[in-house]
Amino acid sequence: MSHGNDHIMLDVNGVDLGYGKLKVVHGVSLQVAKGELVGLVGGNGSGKSTILRAVSGMIQPWSGSITFNGELIGGLAPYQMAEKGLAHVPMGRQLFPNMTVEENLIVGSYLPRLRAGRKARLEHVYTLFPDLQKYSGSAAGALSGGQQQMVAIGRAIMLDPKMMIMDEPSLGLSPLYVKEVMKGIRRVAETGLPVLLVEQNIKQVLQFSHRAYVLENGKLVLEGASSELQGHPLIRKAYLGL
Ligand SMILES: Nc1ncnc2c1ncn2[C@@H]1O[C@H](COP(=O)(O)OP(=O)(O)OP(=O)(O)O)[C@@H](O)[C@H]1O
Ligand SMILES: [Mg+2]
Repeated sequence: MSHGNDHIMLDVNGVDLGYGKLKVVHGVSLQVAKGELVGLVGGNGSGKSTILRAVSGMIQPWSGSITFNGELIGGLAPYQMAEKGLAHVPMGRQLFPNMTVEENLIVGSYLPRLRAGRKARLEHVYTLFPDLQKYSGSAAGALSGGQQQMVAIGRAIMLDPKMMIMDEPSLGLSPLYVKEVMKGIRRVAETGLPVLLVEQNIKQVLQFSHRAYVLENGKLVLEGASSELQGHPLIRKAYLGL
């Protein structure tokens, strides 16, 4: 009988990462299981985006390993990771502002194998984000920041991914929209799609995620159930100002 890790979608195991000669991530291990919303939080320059870049194949680990859906992914390029089912929603929204919301969503399903299911997936995105249906014919650039972020997430869902990684979706949004976007991400995770959510906004992440990892200067300093971390003395003092 197999008691393997077949419920683990992403397994980052002791990775060192850096640029040129500069090491910026030191021996980080983290996991995302199927159906989980996991937060990776930390301040400016702590290495969050660097970890996402390694997961999506933009940079290669100096040491350690990364396994995605049971397969070692060392050496794969970003397009290969996308084909394996990893959707990376990058920092900034990178929409086509003059195209409509629906056209922006459809861009996400350009791969031939996705054409057949396109209509159903579009309906799925509209169910998750009803606002997008309301504004489906409007220019994406005319939407609020929060709505544009939902378009970016919706476009990633159009790829029919196995997992989603997101880099600071709340960046630059007003508190009201931060909450809306976080709720939207939670709904996405509740459909069974695992999400690794990178954020500086630790308070919001701990409220909406199942588990979280806290990164400081390229090292993990805390990890656990988000509900427990919310009450952790270090978090309360250093991050929540309590
Ligand atoms: N392309 C690069 N070349 C050289 N150094 C880089 C590069 N990208 C990031 N760094 C450095 O690596 C460290 C970690 O950066 P990273 O972007 O991963 O942090 P972050 O946690 O995502 O920060 P932020 O919250 O500001 O986005 C920083 O010291 C940064 O200056
Ligand atoms: Mg970053």
